[in-house]
Amino acid sequence: MSASSSASLQNQEKHLAATTALRWVRDGMTLGLGSGSTAALFIRELGERVRAGLRIQATATSQASEDLAREVGIPLLEPRRGLRFDLTVDGADELDAQLCLIKGGGGALLREKVLATASDYLLIVADSSKAVAQLGHFPLPLEVVPFALPWVLDAVAALGGAPVVRADKQKAGELAKSDQGNLLVDCHFEVITTPVELARQLQSIPGVVEQGLFLGLARAAVVAQGGQAWVWRA
Ligand code: 5RP
Repeated sequence: MSASSSASLQNQEKHLAATTALRWVRDGMTLGLGSGSTAALFIRELGERVRAGLRIQATATSQASEDLAREVGIPLLEPRRGLRFDLTVDGADELDAQLCLIKGGGGALLREKVLATASDYLLIVADSSKAVAQLGHFPLPLEVVPFALPWVLDAVAALGGAPVVRADKQKAGELAKSDQGNLLVDCHFEVITTPVELARQLQSIPGVVEQGLFLGLARAAVVAQGGQAWVWRA
């Protein structure tokens, strides 16, 4: 298969996963909106339903998703104490059969984890390339306070994670920044055999604001493969 037809198949799968996720949405819900291209397709579909009369409110996991939600007419809520989400729909970079995830490929892992944790139900939307037998081939993202970077890199290397500071794809020669102004470090573990232990070790490094392992958070996933949308449940 050529690269362009494989990208087009992947886009079709993303679209199918995003539209299938609309089945979880009910009138009156408060929603968390994920980040990345699959979540963006969901936001666009949701906007169409809102314009057709669906009443929902939402908070987004990134500035890009917030801008898109505003553009398509979704009413937005600011973070506040006591705010909970009935449902958050988000993408993933990798997911396994237990619905353990790697997230943060788009750099939004901190806000994504905040909303996932404040949600009664986290639904993942993914194309088939994201489903893996074991996590770790996709480099695990960390959000890191700039001052702490050298020591975080040392600590990640000691854990066997081959850290790479993420470059800004839009601005040549500059480093990528999260919406919070922090740096992003991609850790190449290749295979993660003990995700719970690794998450604990990474989270305890001073200067690591968040790490991209999402464990025990997702309740279900829509994984699209070809023309079929499979629902995986935790
Ligand atoms: C952003 C994320 C995204 O959900 C993840 O990168 C998947 O993106 P896409 O749907 O574009 O493949 O975690 O931080």
